[in-house]
Amino acid sequence: MTSAPPPKLSVIGTGYLGAVHAACMANFGFDVIGVDVDQRKIDQLSEGKPPFYEPELPEILTAALDSGRLTFTTDLAQAAAFADVHFICVGTPQSANSNAADVTFVNSAVSGLVPHLTRDALLVGKSTVPVGTAARLRTLARSLAPAGVNVDLAWNPEFLREGFAVADTQRPDRIVIGTDSDSADQLLRAVYAHQLADGVPYLRTDLATAELVKVAANSFLATKISFINAMAEVCERAGADVTALAHAIGYDDRIGAKFLRAGVGFGGGCLPKDIRAFMARAGELGVDDALSFLKEIDDINLRQRTRTANAAVTMLGGSVNGKTIAALGAAFKPDSDDVRDSPALDVAANLHLQGARVRVYDPKAMANAAALFPTLDFVDSAIDACADADLVLLLTEWKEFVALDPNELAARTAGKRILDARNVLDPVAWRAGGWHYRGLGRP
Ligand code: UDX
Repeated sequence: MTSAPPPKLSVIGTGYLGAVHAACMANFGFDVIGVDVDQRKIDQLSEGKPPFYEPELPEILTAALDSGRLTFTTDLAQAAAFADVHFICVGTPQSANSNAADVTFVNSAVSGLVPHLTRDALLVGKSTVPVGTAARLRTLARSLAPAGVNVDLAWNPEFLREGFAVADTQRPDRIVIGTDSDSADQLLRAVYAHQLADGVPYLRTDLATAELVKVAANSFLATKISFINAMAEVCERAGADVTALAHAIGYDDRIGAKFLRAGVGFGGGCLPKDIRAFMARAGELGVDDALSFLKEIDDINLRQRTRTANAAVTMLGGSVNGKTIAALGAAFKPDSDDVRDSPALDVAANLHLQGARVRVYDPKAMANAAALFPTLDFVDSAIDACADADLVLLLTEWKEFVALDPNELAARTAGKRILDARNVLDPVAWRAGGWHYRGLGRP
């Protein structure tokens, strides 16, 4: 008995999600074609140069290209001719005029691909979409399929974290597959055979549940962060320490210690826009009351940015006008060059608008940050940012910032004031070095 040949894969959309997925699947032995509308991105990926920073991606991309199993194109017709399973990994950003997700790119991936199909195909959505999108896309795909070609569509939400995208793709916490078709289920079990052999739980659901799993997970994570940031506000007034409080409640494993780091709040290309899109979709479904708490989560989160900027103003005696501030960090989190909805840049820009001279340094996100906020000053190192600064502001907890030596830095700055907006420094060591140290939600 001969077993079926492994399915060939296409990955449409080669951003943080798709590029990593394509490279990992090729290294697992599949033939993969990556597709993107951006020729520059495709050229860079074809040369083994990721167009963004993600740890481990250069190595796995090179290995995949060298194996001959991974190619890239801008031509959806080529992908249609090549693959049996097509992963949709395009972005669903916040719409320009509302909180809803903009699903233009998922629509165009389906309508651009399906008319070119010459054999049966399974489309697998990984993008984060409003519930109901998958069923609509399945109908659209079937209406566009050439005569004699059967098209099915399943939903397979992605939970990878930037900075850990390779590890999270190779060995995710769980694989969720929304489908009502046994053959799609079998095909995806073959596609994820390596992860299943590694013991990764595989959960089959209907389409709508699979879509909702993703936004529910992100809403829960956002809620956890805003919860601890709300506690930080109370702690600050009460003279208590939110880091000790988080540590203590985290011992209860019903609560858990993770995602309880109080600070300047969450940002990035997922959590903020996903909770807003979820609220917008709930409104369309007539259940807006069920998610009205997410508005509070969003408000608490945005308030952290204002609170951080206000704390900086207070530390500089009531005005930052004419003062020099070192902003350590621009990315929304460490080990990423992503500045989408970055709290760090938001705070830096706010203080700049209040008249401060803000010198920004980030190990990886400088180019992206400068493109978004060209009026900020960008310098080449943390030390350069801190030189003669009246205030040092730690905004993204890169390891190199956490490792800064208070004694060494003391000689370089003008003010010896530090605002630790991620609560990652040791207040005792910094105060011992002569610094006026302030955290968020700490005495
Ligand atoms: C998130 C989800 O974790 C992931 O599962 C989903 O697929 C996409 O969105 P990501 O955006 O890469 O991933 O970042 P994550 O590590 O979740 O952090 C999100 C934000 O929350 C960052 O700005 C981070 O700094 C902040 N954060 C995280 C906190 O402020 N406190 C914490 O305790 C944890």
